[in-house]
Amino acid sequence: MGQGVLTPGFARVDGVLHADDVSLSQIADAVGTPAYVYSLGRVREQYTRLERALASAMPDVPHRVHFSVKANSNLAVLRTLQECGAGVDIVSAGELFRAREAGFGGADIVFSGVGKTAEELAHALDVQVLFVNVESEGELRLLNQVAGDRGVVAPVALRINPEVTVESPHEYIRTGEKGHKFGIPYDDAEHVAMLAHTLPNVELVGLDMHIGSQIAVWQPYAEALDRIKPLIATLRSAGVQSLRFLDLGGGLAVTYENEAPADVEQFAAGVAAAVRGLGLSIVFEPGRFLVAESGVLLARVLYRKRSGGKDYVITDAGMNDLVRPSHYQAYHRIEPVSAPHGAIVADVVGPVCESGDFLALARDLPDVGPGDLLAVFTAGAYGFVMASNYNSRPRPAEVVVDGDRFAVATERERLEDLVRLERAHLQWRSA
Ligand SMILES: Cc1ncc(COP(=O)(O)O)c(C=O)c1O
Repeated sequence: MGQGVLTPGFARVDGVLHADDVSLSQIADAVGTPAYVYSLGRVREQYTRLERALASAMPDVPHRVHFSVKANSNLAVLRTLQECGAGVDIVSAGELFRAREAGFGGADIVFSGVGKTAEELAHALDVQVLFVNVESEGELRLLNQVAGDRGVVAPVALRINPEVTVESPHEYIRTGEKGHKFGIPYDDAEHVAMLAHTLPNVELVGLDMHIGSQIAVWQPYAEALDRIKPLIATLRSAGVQSLRFLDLGGGLAVTYENEAPADVEQFAAGVAAAVRGLGLSIVFEPGRFLVAESGVLLARVLYRKRSGGKDYVITDAGMNDLVRPSHYQAYHRIEPVSAPHGAIVADVVGPVCESGDFLALARDLPDVGPGDLLAVFTAGAYGFVMASNYNSRPRPAEVVVDGDRFAVATERERLEDLVRLERAHLQWRSA
């Protein structure tokens, strides 16, 4: 395996793994490990693939791809997508801040999330986001009040829970089934929509859904739309003429092991057929699809160990750096950066003091040893963004590669950063 493309953006050149044209061992030498490395070319390719599929399936339907910032909120990645023409989908004031820093204007932003505070809603109104995806009657009333206090009318899309079954690989990434915390329960949707229609400081501009993540087939979207479309008709016949947007959420699947990725052409054709004639602009909120495959986590092997008849590969990256294997039992392909040789079966584990701290279990691997570099694939989504300081481990660096050059996009945290906001000497306040 001296030569060849492993996944677009990552290939072996003379045995050594490269991101675009840059050797991953050169990056590890320059910035250390653990480090996330993203191929910006790969991000652009994914965006272009999706946008082309949508544009050719529905040239007559206005639409926009709003990258879901929660998947990867690195400013350099956001900026790349901004330059491609994407908008963003955010879920917090922090993501709003990042989006603004990356150059997105208010009209580029949709604001989702099940538990927004009054302060966050106020920020969103101040920057004039395209619309707020409201998830409960309580949030709608609060937004009406916040908007009234500021003398503005808030553009609102209601996130409806279409209550459909989604075959995604883990229950934590299903969000559109009956009883989930997300969205407005289907049976309450008409009532809340009519309330939005009558409240003075909100305008009901759209409906929204997000049924889950890592969805490879069109069918659950079709089923969800079969529930949402009658609602649009009902609202229109009840006099609601203000609907302009239909937000279909994210969820498009990528390949981690050997699962089928989302078929974007089939998806685009499905959307086109389902929304034709509705007279609405369509918003998409993909996260994982745009960035997952652009990223690897670089880790160095610290030790090999044998215990209870099992082989362990102990690396300097742990669950605090990449929590997906431990949290979702997610599979991430792991390859040595140098030319592979030999074969072992081992658990790849990190330094964190938890038995749940692993990157892979019982994995067929080349015979790697201390000092070897490993690349953990498909780590560009829900990787760094979910990293923590557990065990007081500084969070890793983030590096972007573009063709034959690379740059540090996030410096590795330093030990001083770990206690920057803490006080050893307390300033007591009296009760
Ligand atoms: C409201 C909303 N939109 C979009 C997304 C992005 O999902 P994905 O990364 O699967 O595309 C999520 C993910 O949880 C979400 O909660």
